[in-house]
Amino acid sequence: MQDIYIAGTGIWYPEDIITNDEIVSSFNSYVDNFNEQNKQMINDGQIEPLAHSSTEFIEKASGIKTRHVIDKKNILDINKMMPSVEHEDASKLSIHAIAGIEAAKKAMISANIESTEIDAVILGTSHAARNYPSVAIEIQNELGIDGYAYDMLVGCSSTTFAINNAFSDISSGLAETILVINPEISTPFVNYAKRDIHFIFGDGCVATIISKNKTSENCYKIIDRKLITKFSNNIRSDWSYLVRAANNDKTFDDLLFYQNGNSVFKEVCPMVAEFISSQLKNNGMKPSEISRFWLHQANSRMVNLIVSKVIGSDEFDSSLAPLPIEKFGNLASAGSMFAFNLHNNLESGDKGLICSFGAGYSVCSIIVQKT
Ligand code: COA
Repeated sequence: MQDIYIAGTGIWYPEDIITNDEIVSSFNSYVDNFNEQNKQMINDGQIEPLAHSSTEFIEKASGIKTRHVIDKKNILDINKMMPSVEHEDASKLSIHAIAGIEAAKKAMISANIESTEIDAVILGTSHAARNYPSVAIEIQNELGIDGYAYDMLVGCSSTTFAINNAFSDISSGLAETILVINPEISTPFVNYAKRDIHFIFGDGCVATIISKNKTSENCYKIIDRKLITKFSNNIRSDWSYLVRAANNDKTFDDLLFYQNGNSVFKEVCPMVAEFISSQLKNNGMKPSEISRFWLHQANSRMVNLIVSKVIGSDEFDSSLAPLPIEKFGNLASAGSMFAFNLHNNLESGDKGLICSFGAGYSVCSIIVQKT
């Protein structure tokens, strides 16, 4: 079969940084305000008082220390608690396109290619900026790329599923080189008034060049891909075009991202560990042959648990499974390839494994080898 490579990657992230102390202080001010305003109902036992968040909990439960966001000021303002963004507008580049183009330019430099050498753009994301036209086509137009482009949605597995599509298109002869872009501007969709959610997400974008040509020194050959989906409501958002016409009552808050985080943790960790183990077995590889695990950055405890189950030991060097979540928070589907972008200094011949997992549930695992 034709060899196909990850030829280069690039990342974009906003400059604003929010520390845990800052996000907790804002949340706790909101809680104090809410409890004061609803004192009577709380005293009468009609509603429960809201509880404070804490930096200690966030670091212990998730490993997150900071997150990069598009609008720190308005997120921390307890009268707003969300970034301020403009409506999509035909006369301007969309927010996803701006992020995507920045990441794509870096990916093209890293892959040592020009946009004219790209045959297609596949954009995967957890949240579509608009229904149509595709942001991928907007980026294609802006970068002067011929061929085709489209958007796809697979929750936190959108990046690896998009890489998988690129691989399939190249191996079928449809294209030679494909630009995969994964903007994840999640903060407009975070309910910053919810204690178990307010600290999780950051904003960022990753771009990946998939090619049948070894265009740079730092290429990784794709050895194997494995995908699975299994329906679950534990990570869900009901925001959709139906909202305008819906005849039953749901508030905006009801429609935002929500999760049963603890169930996700308990169900997804064993599922992913078994999935990776069986993939390695099917490829005749021992877990010890994998020099790096670039896993979805939902939670550092999840990453460490999955790796320890796969290798059969909870004692391993932290470089085996990098954790950009500490600095960037959960970047939805962009997390695994952010980890790859920031920590891909393997030696020639070394093998690594990229794996996303998330809403759906969806899992995609890709074994690669440094050329
Ligand atoms: N500050 C302090 N305490 C908090 C808190 C906060 N911000 N948020 C929740 N708690 C409390 C809970 O109320 C609970 O208290 P209780 O034991 O008295 O009921 C306790 O901490 C444990 O809550 P739990 O939800 O079980 O925490 P957890 O250890 O599972 O960690 C997540 C929470 C969300 C960090 C974790 O479940 C997770 O990351 N899950 C997977 C996320 C994921 O993959 N999401 C997919 C989207 S990409």
